[in-house]
Amino acid sequence: MEPRHRSPGLSRQEAALTGSQFARPSSLTGRLLLRGMNIGHARLHRWGLEAAGIHPRDKVLDVGCGGGRAIARILARTRREVAGVDHSPEAVETTRRLNRSAIVSGRLRVLEGSVDHLPFRDGFFNVATAFETTYFWPDLQAGLIEIRRVLSPGGRLVITNEVADREAAGRWAERLDMNVPDGRSLAALAREAGFLTVDISIHPRHGWLRLLAAR
Ligand SMILES: C[S@@+](CC[C@H](N)C(=O)[O-])C[C@H]1O[C@@H](n2cnc3c(N)ncnc32)[C@H](O)[C@@H]1O
Repeated sequence: MEPRHRSPGLSRQEAALTGSQFARPSSLTGRLLLRGMNIGHARLHRWGLEAAGIHPRDKVLDVGCGGGRAIARILARTRREVAGVDHSPEAVETTRRLNRSAIVSGRLRVLEGSVDHLPFRDGFFNVATAFETTYFWPDLQAGLIEIRRVLSPGGRLVITNEVADREAAGRWAERLDMNVPDGRSLAALAREAGFLTVDISIHPRHGWLRLLAAR
């Protein structure tokens, strides 16, 4: 999602509708948006997964899994269990459809739920990813604490956002009701949530933000 490049001709109502669809895709509009994001976020997914360094023995959770394309990439990198969670039933359904064979083989679970109440036991995953989703979490700090809970000691979290700070989001931050912390604030929140090492990088060409944190 790149609010900077969206048409400034959108009315306030249209912007609000688009915003809520990004935050929780629903109905036909949401399904189309999810498919679009599967294509549009491909490079962002690859950049995030580069940092995640997923090994064949890693158990991985993707939070705010949207249309499920990042999960397809994750499944190709590990032989262990993968899970996706999203609070949008439409996103859960789209992710399941795209990754049906992994569900049938019992390697993938896709569950409806919010980042602040993850339906998984403590320390279950080695890696957690979150692409283009933190803007919409009801409480970023609570989400980070909850993700840390489901990571094993030494487990890694990678957050990847196309919009690296409020200035980059411009007026869309307000219109789409996005929370856009910059790298420094996001790193501070991750440390406060209990992550031991936290590293922030900015994509040299696109200006995207990536956080890599270890539990
Ligand atoms: C902009 S989309 C990005 C989807 C996908 N990660 C991608 O890279 O294409 C944001 C996704 O985060 C989900 N989301 C937003 N807030 C959430 C929350 N509190 N808990 C779980 N998922 C959430 C939305 O439903 C939506 O599917």
